[in-house]
Amino acid sequence: MKSTTKIAIASLALAFAAGAAQAATAAENWENSCASCHGADGKAQTKQGKKLKVRDYTDPKVQAELKDDAMLQAILDGVKGEGGKERMKGFKDELSEQDAKDLVAYIRSLKA
Ligand code: HEC
Repeated sequence: MKSTTKIAIASLALAFAAGAAQAATAAENWENSCASCHGADGKAQTKQGKKLKVRDYTDPKVQAELKDDAMLQAILDGVKGEGGKERMKGFKDELSEQDAKDLVAYIRSLKA
């Protein structure tokens, strides 16, 4: 086998491993930091989700209203409601921008 082929195969394997690790991380972050309000399935049918009237991310209409950059900002900086009252805290101390981007993609994948 030519060494360039070996390198190509090795880097493919690496890219695949990195991709798999990333997907697990977004799912883990969702489960650990978000599911208590947004629900593991994104439907927000949890005690807190109902109380805070969090939207159902499996609903295609809700998905259509959401913009990726606004979602990213919400995850990093939090969401404020009327009168500047905090609706959701920002996660920029806990998550990297890449983690937050992966979570946006994860939320997109919850669409029914
Ligand atoms: C304490 C409950 C709570 C937790 C935990 C929480 N959220 Fe939220 N989230 C909310 C509320 C409340 C809103 C505002 C909903 C609204 O005003 O319609 C919101 C809004 C959002 C939005 C903006 C889009 C929208 O529906 O308004 C995104 C994106 C989001 N959350 C993602 C996440 C992610 C990702 C996590 C975990 C890292 C997370 N949330 C953790 C309660 C929570």
